[in-house]
Amino acid sequence: MDKIYINGGKPLHGEVSISGAKNAAVAILPAIILAQDVCRVENIPNISDVSMMIRILHQLGAKIQKIDNTTYEIDSSTINSYVVTHDMTKHLRASYYLIGALLARFGRAKVAMPGGCNFGVRPIDQHIKGFEILGSSVSFKENAMIDVEAKELTGGLVYFDVVSVGATINLMLAAVKAQGLTIIENAAKEPHIVDLANFLNSMGADVRGAGTDVIKIRGVEHMHGCTYSIIPDQIEAGTFMVAAAATNGAVLVKNVIPKHLESITAKLVQCGVTVEEFDDSVLVKGNGRPGKCNIKTMPHPGFPTDMQPQFATMLAIANGTSIVSEGVWDSRFQYVEQLTRMGANISVNGKAATIEGVESLNGSPVKADDLRAGAAMLIAGLIAKGTTSIENIIYIDRGYDNVVGKFKQLGADIYRVNDSDEPQLIENSEVG
Ligand code: EPU
Repeated sequence: MDKIYINGGKPLHGEVSISGAKNAAVAILPAIILAQDVCRVENIPNISDVSMMIRILHQLGAKIQKIDNTTYEIDSSTINSYVVTHDMTKHLRASYYLIGALLARFGRAKVAMPGGCNFGVRPIDQHIKGFEILGSSVSFKENAMIDVEAKELTGGLVYFDVVSVGATINLMLAAVKAQGLTIIENAAKEPHIVDLANFLNSMGADVRGAGTDVIKIRGVEHMHGCTYSIIPDQIEAGTFMVAAAATNGAVLVKNVIPKHLESITAKLVQCGVTVEEFDDSVLVKGNGRPGKCNIKTMPHPGFPTDMQPQFATMLAIANGTSIVSEGVWDSRFQYVEQLTRMGANISVNGKAATIEGVESLNGSPVKADDLRAGAAMLIAGLIAKGTTSIENIIYIDRGYDNVVGKFKQLGADIYRVNDSDEPQLIENSEVG
């Protein structure tokens, strides 16, 4: 198992370019199944969640050509199976998007229940409710397989009881070829929902209202191939913004959509950080020790839960006491134990953490409990005096493209090593 080592305490300086959005890519790749044609998708991030999704498409029969590091051409006309087994889905939460896409294409999907990060119970009742309203029958088979079948998918009105990114995406995938009109109410509004809608429309679908809480989808008979470029990753951008601020550095974060970063920018500014917005970049400059602030995570356009651990890590060295409340997941404070080892003063009570800012953190051996917890450990290591080693970086690889190379480019003393080797420098191109 590889580890990341960081000799911390150095401000980050320079420029970093943000990769394509993980959570858009893992929705757009299964959507290609609907084209029955060739799609060329650009700005695909080089991360393990994406490699797993591409491997699943290949196993289902798609022809896949890698054009360059971020561009793939995928021919889904040769897909000939609607069965996705456990060995394909066990590490990937987004594998559940294959249900909506295969159901729309074949009228049936048999997909093993998804893996992914563990934040407590991760139900899919809203996905199932939506499939049923569209005329499907849903059953659970042995080996934790979900079997969804419809003689004919028919549009309907789906009101989600909770705002769910996954359920919104899955229903969009299932509905684009259904008979008639589907209306999704209380839909999620994240940037990757809009990106998926734009991609589906580029393939000939009729999806309107994405980015608002009512999405209307009029089913079409045929879809076709297209060329499409995925939006930049809001959370990767936010992670570099917070890392710049937390190390009291100055970083130009390039290839971003500043509008997608507004909630993160607003909180950084509240903490006394300077953020300048340009057309497709943001310049983040620390102004000494960050100030305190309170955060509550919420669905978009609220403060994203996927930035909560990284921001809390910066607040661990802020001047004053901050309260961070988690409004999306039941259990997303596992990383606090690791930060405490490094000298942070944080107490968790249910879904809220009280953070008494300390002057600095101390390097320590820590582990990534999940993807964003791993990002928090990276920031903690960059802040801390001395050496931090991070285990379980398989989680970080799921969602951050060449993260070691990118931090190294900003002046960080950061290395990735194979556990069996002596610590050694890994070149940028080999990392992530
Ligand atoms: N929920 C239900 N029933 C459902 C679906 C969700 O009760 O049928 C609840 C969940 O338990 C949770 C809330 O609704 O409390 C929101 O869950 P959502 O469905 O929005 O989450 P998700 O689709 O499983 C995606 C991202 C997560 C991100 C959340 C929230 C992907 C592949 N994953 O998960 O990203 O935290 O939305 O924004 O898009 C990450 O990138 O690190 C990550 C975990």
